[in-house]
Amino acid sequence: MAKYAMIAGTGIYDLPGFDPTPIRVETPFGSAAYHRCQGDLVFLPRHGLHHDTPPHAINYRANFWALHTLGVESVVAAYAVGSLHRSIPLRGLALLSDFIDRTQGRADTFYTGGEWGVGHADMSRPYCPRLREVILARAAERGIEIVPQATYACTNGPRFESPAEVRLLTSWGGDVVGMTGVPEVSLARELGMHFAGVALSMNLAVGLEEELSVVRDLGAQRAAMLDLIQAALQGFGDGPGCGCVGAVDFLGAARISVPRAMPART
Ligand code: HPA
Repeated sequence: MAKYAMIAGTGIYDLPGFDPTPIRVETPFGSAAYHRCQGDLVFLPRHGLHHDTPPHAINYRANFWALHTLGVESVVAAYAVGSLHRSIPLRGLALLSDFIDRTQGRADTFYTGGEWGVGHADMSRPYCPRLREVILARAAERGIEIVPQATYACTNGPRFESPAEVRLLTSWGGDVVGMTGVPEVSLARELGMHFAGVALSMNLAVGLEEELSVVRDLGAQRAAMLDLIQAALQGFGDGPGCGCVGAVDFLGAARISVPRAMPART
């Protein structure tokens, strides 16, 4: 059994102490692959170790179902993003607090009706407030600067946004833009997981600069972010006050299939 997972994407294909041999699992939604790390931690590189799966083609449901069946209760996801504001500098970190979904056609729920039931995840606090607090505390201890609240605008990709789309996302309150944050956040909630997202800025969004310029070298920030995430997950568990476990509201006959589609934890 594993209790914690880190999901990562662009620029992060390993974790200190991880086993590079992937463990493949079959789920009702297709296959997923993860890596064992030290202790109770597993690592799931969402694009694959060779970055061969684009954002719109990731099997998000298989990934989360695999983590769920492993017993994972708490997940921190790392996201490469573009900054929608200059106040989030290149290689700057931001802790996600809200999101905007501009994806299309992704398989984004376990509650597809029939035997899987009908459920509605409460999104009033999309990211676990307790896990967010711990991340901020661990960052402060380490002297790591992190913007404490950021709204993640998720586009479908794989193309970047147009300047007009960036203006739209900014006017809607977006702070960072990426292509993978949704449906990870909502699938985690459907499974009653404690979930948080740390964004790392790789570029200023299109239109904020003359030309799009994406940072390739994450430098020391990469190691700092990995250390921060692992430190935050260590020892983190269920507790009062966050409401993540059981964040789904069931309507009518949906309750019949709850045991199949939801974790056994209460
Ligand atoms: N847009 C969308 N996704 C991204 C970006 C961006 O500017 N940078 C890194 N991932």
